Amino acid sequence: MSNTFGELFKLTTFGESHGEAVGAVIDGCPADLEITRDFIQKELDKRKPGQSEFYSSRKEKDRVKILSGIFKQKTIGSPIALLVENRDVDSSNYEKNRIRPGHADYTYHKKYGHFDYRGSGRASGRETVGRVCGGAIANKILEHTPMGVYGHVKKIDEIEANPSLKQIKENTYDNDLRCADSKKLEEMKKQVREVQQKNDSIGGEIEIVVTSPLMGFGEPVFDKIEAKLSHAITSIGAVKGIKFGAGFASSKKLGSKMNDEIRVNKDQAFFEKNDSGGMLGGITTGQKIHFRVPVKPTPSIGKKQQTIDIEEMKEKEIKIEGRHDPCICPRILPVIESMTRLVLVDLGMLADKLPTNQVE
Ligand SMILES: Cc1cc2nc3c(=O)[nH]c(=O)nc-3n(C[C@H](O)[C@H](O)[C@H](O)COP(=O)(O)O)c2cc1C
Repeated sequence: MSNTFGELFKLTTFGESHGEAVGAVIDGCPADLEITRDFIQKELDKRKPGQSEFYSSRKEKDRVKILSGIFKQKTIGSPIALLVENRDVDSSNYEKNRIRPGHADYTYHKKYGHFDYRGSGRASGRETVGRVCGGAIANKILEHTPMGVYGHVKKIDEIEANPSLKQIKENTYDNDLRCADSKKLEEMKKQVREVQQKNDSIGGEIEIVVTSPLMGFGEPVFDKIEAKLSHAITSIGAVKGIKFGAGFASSKKLGSKMNDEIRVNKDQAFFEKNDSGGMLGGITTGQKIHFRVPVKPTPSIGKKQQTIDIEEMKEKEIKIEGRHDPCICPRILPVIESMTRLVLVDLGMLADKLPTNQVE
């Protein structure tokens, strides 16, 4: 299994959905960085279930415990271990042999044979608690730079939000669907409710903007910024792709329309537009980084579906009870923001643009 991400700033996540606890070990964080438990908790609260009719009704307080690496509210350069206990565990709705379509049951069963299938084990959205812990520490490092990572739910099904950057910064976390465009919020809510009532689920898209990125992040040729972000973000469950800048539409543009033309103002180069998504040759240009992430509908649904019992090798029907998000978008948003922050910090350290925890 692969449970660690990053080269100089490393995140390892651990724990299963219905085990004792989930959490993270963050290695490579410089010393002397002020971090309080409340700061990490604030980030975790954005991902917490049970906060809304649109989230899984699992009731977890998700109180984070700092086990190591922080002394008198400052990092000490050693691994930071963070633990979140699983308190509201109910395994009654999980049958090992009856495979849930669209989930990880079939592949985990085939690959590992013996695994903790309760609540999906490592394949659960609960694994992302550790990612948000790591993202919080990365965010503290980014606070010492001009960079900011902001996201919002861009689309639910075909309903598209078009907020300004100011609205994204101010409105996203004001509502439980994380829609920054007040004109679209009610429409989105109605859509999710309708689907939920039919025992079904729905997908959407997340948009991320990185403001004031430093130039020179990205290590060609294999660790280009697109490659690192793709790795980090498509490793999150339910993510089905990533689109940088103009994305797939680039293939239909003429070069003269695709290229971001360059000019000079007061000895400073600037680009006329930003279809590149803020990256060229796998390196940040200094323009805003922007990308979009498609999120599939939640696989566990109450509607009757065709599946198999993998032990008996017989066709069966399945209706999934239990506590599931009708739409994963609002709760995946802080996870995608976290993974973006982890990539920026790791690439910043690799490019010598951010301090590492190496002693000179
Ligand atoms: C924050 C978050 C919450 C999720 N909640 C659920 C859920 O309630 N029910 C469910 O079946 N899948 C949920 N998922 C999705 C599954 O984890 C994911 O679909 C599964 O691991 C299979 O992986 P794949 O979709 O990437 O192929 C969630 C994922 C994330 C990131």
